[in-house]
This record gives sequence, structure tokens and C-alpha cells, in this order.
Amino acid sequence: MTGRYIYQLAGDEGSRDLARAEAAAFCDAEQIAYRLVASDQRVRLERTGYLAGGIELLAEGPDVKTACEQVRRLGLAAEEFAIDVVRLPGGLKLSRREAANAFALAIEGRPNLDDPGERFTVYATPEGVWFGRALEMDVPQWKRFVAKLHDCSSALPDQAARAVCNLEVRGGERVVDPCCGSGTLLMNAADLGAHVSGFDLNKKMVGATNANLLYFGFPASAEQADATKVGGNYDLVLTNLPYGKMSAVSPADELRLVRNIVKLAPRGVLITTNDVTDAVREAGTRLERTIPLSKFTITRKVYQYRSE
Ligand SMILES: C[S@@+](CC[C@H](N)C(=O)[O-])C[C@H]1O[C@@H](n2cnc3c(N)ncnc32)[C@H](O)[C@@H]1O
Repeated sequence: MTGRYIYQLAGDEGSRDLARAEAAAFCDAEQIAYRLVASDQRVRLERTGYLAGGIELLAEGPDVKTACEQVRRLGLAAEEFAIDVVRLPGGLKLSRREAANAFALAIEGRPNLDDPGERFTVYATPEGVWFGRALEMDVPQWKRFVAKLHDCSSALPDQAARAVCNLEVRGGERVVDPCCGSGTLLMNAADLGAHVSGFDLNKKMVGATNANLLYFGFPASAEQADATKVGGNYDLVLTNLPYGKMSAVSPADELRLVRNIVKLAPRGVLITTNDVTDAVREAGTRLERTIPLSKFTITRKVYQYRSE
């Protein structure tokens, strides 16, 4: 047992940086190849947005042949096994069947694709080949919220919302979303063990968040309020600022919003399509980083900040 793990990051190019940032929030993730990170730490994959699978590393090499030789040297025995070959990128010129056969011949035991006792995965990339025991994972927890009762046109995609929460949410903390919309961020934060509160100017959205929270077994905790004026003391602000046709605000309004929102907690993550760098800094906070996030035609930025 090497105690080293390789994780595969899901999502498209537009979410690449957020996926990497999320991986780094869970473990000492080292980028090793296209959509692969390595770590000595075992991650509970179902809690994440983008860590879509992984292996406990057994062998590696620059190519299939070298990695297979390593497996043979290990004297790896498995009663009945299946091997899944994942090519990254997908268009990589390599026969999945030939690669699976080569590894199968290096293992002592019998392949059984229908009812395997053990599952192995091969990650094949132009940078190298990694082989290991597939990590078991339940259905990702964020997928539960896809079935929410109400949605909002400018809501973050559920997978991205989960990853944003994973950057900062800690169980037991008080998390506020002052522009909560239909509550996508709050549901995920509550699922991670936070005590959540939401505000929205629009009464309908308050109802949508509360209905969604209740539907998934969390207390209804959203109220109608103007985020430019709302007060309170929280551990973390988490919000997807208003933008888009349905909730357009002027740049001046957005600055007013940001100035007030940052006072609610010593740490925060803001998501917006506009540049709010100056407003975040002016409010006396330290901007830790900005992560680009694009989906279809919307390009957003994720601002992670904390008080100086
Ligand atoms: C981008 S949406 C939030 C989406 C949300 N994360 C979700 O999952 O549905 C922004 C929300 O901000 C609300 N909003 C706009 N101006 C506001 C203000 N001054 N105070 C509070 N909420 C406001 C809008 O009604 C809208 O629901």
C-alpha cells in the first residue's frame, strides 16, 4: 500500500480552476496531469463537487507498458477483477481494451466484468499512466439538490455551488447568503453542517429558498431584506450577487451591496459577473484569490476574501 491517491476532476474547461481550488481545499493536491491531482490524503469524494473518482495508487509509469511491468513486479493478486481505463483527454489515441488486457495479464487472478470482487482504474494521459484500486464512492451529495422545488435563472449550477461551499464552509459555523435567490448555496452549506441564514429583496425568492430548505430537511431560515442595509454577525458570507436580466443591479448598487455584505462576517466568498475587486479591497478585506468560472455564455468570478 503506497498511501498515495490520484483524483480525477470532473467538469468542463470553464470550471477547471474552481475544481482545482476545491481539490486543494480537501487535500494537499498536486496537479500531475490533465484533470488529475495526486495527494497523500484520502478524500470523501461524495462531499465534493468536482472530485469525480479516484484510485489508491499501485503503479505508475510514463506509458502502459512500464506501469504494467510495475504491477507484475508487485505480484498483485485479485480473485475476480474488472479494470476501467479512463483516457484523459477523452480523445487520447490509446485502445482502452488493449490497455485493460495488458494490465489484466499483469495481475494474478481472473477478470470478471459482470460481478468483480475488486475494481481497478487506469488513468491514461499524455503525461503518464496511473493504475490503482478504484476508491468507492456514494452518489455525490450535491446531486440531491438538482431535484429542488424552485430554481432561479441566475443560480449557480449545483456542482459549482457545492465546490464554492467547499472552499470555505465549516460545519457548525453561521453562514449567511444576503442575496439568496432560490437557496442553492444555502442548501449545500447546510448539508455541510453549517447553520444557514438567507435574505433576499424579492419575497418570491425568500419563499423559494425556504421551500427548498424545508424540502431537504433543513429549517426554513430566509427572510425578506435589502442586502445593502441588512446587519448581523456571522462566520461566513457566501453569495451569488444579483446579475442577469431578472435581477440586474447597476454597478453603483452592486458596490453598495458589496460594501455592506463584507461587514457581515470576517470571511466570504462572492460570485459575480462584474469586477468588484476595488469594492472588496476598499472594505478593508484581503482578497485571497479570484477564481474564474464560466458556463455557457456567463463568465463569473469567485472572490474569496477575509478581514485583514
Ligand atoms: C444571482 S441571484 C442568487 C442566486 C442564488 N444563489 C440561487 O441559488 O438561486 C441574486 C438574488 O439577489 C436578489 N437581490 C437583488 N438585489 C438585492 C438586494 N438589494 N438585497 C437582497 N437581495 C437582492 C435577487 O432577488 C436575486 O434573487
